[in-house]
Amino acid sequence: MKVFIVGIAGKVGIRLAERLVARGDEVDGLYRRPQQKEALAAVGIQATEGDLVKMSAAELAEAIRGSDVVVFSAGAGGEGGPEMTTAIDGDGMTKTIEAVQQAGIARLILVSAFPNALRERETSDRFEHYMTVKRRSEVELVDSDLDWMILRPGTLTDDTGSGRVSLSLALPYGDVPRDDVAETLAEIVHAPGTARTILELISGSVPAAEAVATFDRA
Ligand SMILES: NC(=O)c1ccc[n+]([C@@H]2O[C@H](COP(=O)([O-])OP(=O)(O)OC[C@H]3O[C@@H](n4cnc5c(N)ncnc54)[C@H](OP(=O)(O)O)[C@@H]3O)[C@@H](O)[C@H]2O)c1
Repeated sequence: MKVFIVGIAGKVGIRLAERLVARGDEVDGLYRRPQQKEALAAVGIQATEGDLVKMSAAELAEAIRGSDVVVFSAGAGGEGGPEMTTAIDGDGMTKTIEAVQQAGIARLILVSAFPNALRERETSDRFEHYMTVKRRSEVELVDSDLDWMILRPGTLTDDTGSGRVSLSLALPYGDVPRDDVAETLAEIVHAPGTARTILELISGSVPAAEAVATFDRA
């Protein structure tokens, strides 16, 4: 399977790329800093350098053409203020939807966010803006003619993953290691029958493959 990851050098992106390469998939993706080329080459990936903000949908379409599925895992990560959150998590996703359509690809998977994330702690205008933009991206994707899939992980940690998760249509809010998000995404990539589903993800006790199989209608 040929997979393109927008945000491939990110913490989730690289973990997903490693797992897909190990499964024998052909992996490409978009990264923006030249120095990330080496880290990607170290895991056997020749990815595409480019800035999601500066490139056009047509340029992105050229980069992703021929892929079976595209995963959007890019994000401003709070850097550059609300404008960059809008530009990357929001407009970047709009551009990716257009590019996927132009390239004639059916499947687009969005790494989104838990709707009530961090609500029990003190929140901020910056975070509320992030949640609004993520929601906008979800709405645009669901409204598209694509075989979309949305994964909403809880708060991401760098803890070592267990490979075991809790994945469902609605869950209590919690944390999840990026390793386990990547593990789950790798399974979703290989489960086209999860299309047109929104799933929430936190740490749990079910092996990721088993958890995803529950929602694979293929
Ligand atoms: N943090 C949380 O608790 C949480 C919870 C739920 C969902 N999420 C979402 O999960 C996703 C993955 O998170 P993560 O931890 O992997 O984040 P990350 O490590 O910050 O990865 C995001 C990637 O997007 C890339 N990116 C940003 N702007 C770009 C641009 N203009 N052009 C090309 N690439 C660009 C970044 O590039 P650089 O490496 O150059 O910065 C980075 O590699 C994000 O969408 C995030 O919003 C996060």
